Amino acid sequence: MCGIIVRAGVGDALGELLTGLRNLEYRGYDSAGVALRRNDGEIVVCKREGETDALEADLDSDRLSGSVGIGHTRWSTHGAPSDANAHPHTDGSNRVAVVHNGIIRNYETLRRELRDRGHEFTSETDTEVIPHLVADALDAGIDPETAFRSAIDRIEGSYAIAMVVDGREEVYATRRGSPLVLGVGETANYLASDVPAFLEFTDRVVYLEDDDVVVVDAEGYQISDVAGDPIERTVETVDWDAGDARKGVYNHFMRKEIDEQPVSLRQTINGRIEGGKSVLSEFPQGSLADVDEVIFVACGTSYHAGMYGCTLLRRRGIPATAVPANEFAHEPMPVTDRTLVIAVTQSGETADTLASLRAANSSPARTLAVTNVVGSTAAREANDALFIRAGPEIGVAATKTFSSQVAAIALLADRLEDDGAGQSAGWSTAEETDRSADQIDRSVSTTATKNREGANGRTGGGDRAENDGQTAYDNGDVSELRALPDHVETVVGDGNAARLATQYADADSYFFIGRGVGYPVALEGALKFKEITYEHAEGFAAGELKHGPLALVTPATVVVAIFTGRNDERTLHNIREAQSRGAPVIGIGPESATDVREKVDEYLSYPDVGPNLAGILANVHLQLLAYHAAEIRDRAIDKPRNLAKSVTVE
Ligand code: F6R
Repeated sequence: MCGIIVRAGVGDALGELLTGLRNLEYRGYDSAGVALRRNDGEIVVCKREGETDALEADLDSDRLSGSVGIGHTRWSTHGAPSDANAHPHTDGSNRVAVVHNGIIRNYETLRRELRDRGHEFTSETDTEVIPHLVADALDAGIDPETAFRSAIDRIEGSYAIAMVVDGREEVYATRRGSPLVLGVGETANYLASDVPAFLEFTDRVVYLEDDDVVVVDAEGYQISDVAGDPIERTVETVDWDAGDARKGVYNHFMRKEIDEQPVSLRQTINGRIEGGKSVLSEFPQGSLADVDEVIFVACGTSYHAGMYGCTLLRRRGIPATAVPANEFAHEPMPVTDRTLVIAVTQSGETADTLASLRAANSSPARTLAVTNVVGSTAAREANDALFIRAGPEIGVAATKTFSSQVAAIALLADRLEDDGAGQSAGWSTAEETDRSADQIDRSVSTTATKNREGANGRTGGGDRAENDGQTAYDNGDVSELRALPDHVETVVGDGNAARLATQYADADSYFFIGRGVGYPVALEGALKFKEITYEHAEGFAAGELKHGPLALVTPATVVVAIFTGRNDERTLHNIREAQSRGAPVIGIGPESATDVREKVDEYLSYPDVGPNLAGILANVHLQLLAYHAAEIRDRAIDKPRNLAKSVTVE
């Protein structure tokens, strides 16, 4: 949601600013703009509605020459996408130019006050009050840094802000609640909303904290607190490769990131499995022993990963719930000091997720961020962080990070179980079985493993044991994760999703159903499909289809059913209900599930794997189905309309 890039260094800034803007387009692409401080001291601004390409087409690079500049790519909040509402915003006389990511809550009051003092506004944005406040202070003879601080003092809300002032070589910047990272280069220094913006120029970064004020020029940078006292912050080297943030031979980042999943999954699990057990340096043995229950808080795709995680934990006998982050933040949710609240967030900057994390932090609960971004707000604010190590994800539609989130949570589930999490409260399951109380015991999980091997003969085992009423908990084996990258590779290489995307391109609606881990995967499949194809797509728990949605099913409804090798028989009943209304059914399931294959109209198979991880493989087919369906429709796959990758407003 809006991207900021700043460059202060030797030589011309424009090229690097444009690169930075392109690298940040995943945060918003309603408009783009730059302000450069020319070598004669003058500030020149160029901004346009549309993507960076539209801006570049209109640039007068002779006029825009200078070694210091700021740039912005916008996801509209206050005011429609237009040239006037594009950033940078100025004080009207181009003495001060500002870029901003976030929301200024008290902008209407400030605007009225400034208007009364004769200031004229040219946009509908909240941002425009900032350059006017600074200009007022400059008029009063105050130096630019103090003028910047006094403007920041007046605004309320969440923000990352950068400012240039005519005649000055420095850029002034600060953050509160919105991300801002400093890049320390050889011949230039940078500021950006996210590391990939400047990764081609430097991998040395300083993660700024809320209320840090930073003054950057070609020579270096100074960071100080609100009172103006200097602060030392560590310079870290990021291990992301600049190539990861480039499209290379691909037409779309999304396709590149789908294909990258074998590699990103290897990174997620690397060094974290020993002797069939998960070993997380973040959580030494015993460190999770006091956890009675887990609550996942997250949004969108990350929420689906949290739901998936719930099922994995419950299968190990650990009570778990997933709550949409904004609901958790603003509705009372009972917790104790034995509750672990896990914020799942790729970016670590999603405002709703941060709000839920802050709500949890102010309760007795313990908090953990499962995130992709080291140095992100979530990683810093949670009590602990578990990094998914998926590498930069640029496509707005999350793909590889979902797989890595689930894999990381699977590892965590094993650690939690090993530490005896959830045991002391004496929970038992509400599954419909005829087993006796002593069968609902952790010792049964051993039996379950044996049953799986015996009943199915599959590697890693598919748990059908509840069908014969014997299993309590299915704890799986994290060693299975080792084979996952190869299995994902097989799915990525399967061309059938592309064929089916074409075959069913004329449908009216696309329904996705699943149970167990297949349920969040169904929701995720529908989310991916609707967000990049703009077609009507909905996900349901398979058993829910008959409780209402079935009224919508016609021969023009494609039903995509996820089979995971667990409770598949029940899902087959559900697809029959759809088929008898004429709907074609695409099944996604294990290679060896001939019983399922025979009953669906089309089948996308994945290598046999236990039911805990099957959902990850099924989901890769769904990513490909959505991708190809969007490609046929010629959609803006990496930048779907109205969306941004990192939603930093509530
Ligand atoms: C969908 C998608 C979004 C994000 C959501 C949370 O493809 O990417 O639904 O998953 O906005 O973002 P993070 O994970 O950064 O908190």
